[in-house]
Amino acid sequence: MSDSGEKSADREIPPAVNGEQEAALQRRSIRSFVKRAGRITAAQKHALLHHWPQYGIDFAQASPLDFALLFPGRDEIKLEIGFGNGDALVQMAAQDPHSAYLGIEVHEPGVGHCLHQLQQGQLNNVRLIAHDAVEVLEYMVPAGALDRVFLFFPDPWHKKRHHKRRIVNAHFKDLLVKCLKPGGVLHMATDWQDYAEVMAREMQTDARFENLGDAEGYSAKPEYRPETRFERRGQRLGHGVWDLLFRKKLG
Ligand SMILES: C[S@@+](CC[C@H](N)C(=O)[O-])C[C@H]1O[C@@H](n2cnc3c(N)ncnc32)[C@H](O)[C@@H]1O
Repeated sequence: MSDSGEKSADREIPPAVNGEQEAALQRRSIRSFVKRAGRITAAQKHALLHHWPQYGIDFAQASPLDFALLFPGRDEIKLEIGFGNGDALVQMAAQDPHSAYLGIEVHEPGVGHCLHQLQQGQLNNVRLIAHDAVEVLEYMVPAGALDRVFLFFPDPWHKKRHHKRRIVNAHFKDLLVKCLKPGGVLHMATDWQDYAEVMAREMQTDARFENLGDAEGYSAKPEYRPETRFERRGQRLGHGVWDLLFRKKLG
């Protein structure tokens, strides 16, 4: 082997990683979404170009959010993860002007649709981040910052071999425990019964949370939650709907 060959082989040896780094690397390769090109309308493109500067926050690992600066004078900070086209986020923010809403979504046409709605409604209590919510929770949301987290109809990844992509897992719960205030509430909804059962089990067996629903872990749909696009799709397919509300314990 030539000199240069030996050197390039040397360079391919990965640097040593500790257990925590290895787990993080593994997580990065198993995400809860797949980015698809998808069709984007002229209005969505226009909104991304013109309204992102007003409502968007770029992801940056080293820039934790300062909510007091972003949303001065708001009573509560509420986060929606995977807002889809943003209709529910916009409706909740419009009917609750004293709270601040942060929305996270990776699907560009959905972000464009939401920006368009925000601008049309002239809402000033909403900001969006177009990035993996797991990384936003890891790097940008400070500890104890959130009053509520909404996760409405997350991708069900219903095939067994894809279950590892489901966003509700042990690492996600750890991130929620970090980011929610003591007494802060996680509100999830799904139209997939087996995912609802997993959610209920994960949360009920976690001593850091308190169930706000019935013995099985389910709650009645709160008034404030609008019907979402994916919920309607589930209903057309004959699916049920399960809401789950869990509070982070005070102690
Ligand atoms: C099934 S859709 C539901 C959308 C909306 N909540 C609704 O009920 O109509 C799930 C959404 O979550 C988004 N998503 C999945 N994983 C995500 C992640 N890690 N970070 C941000 N968005 C994510 C997907 O792009 C998709 O738009």
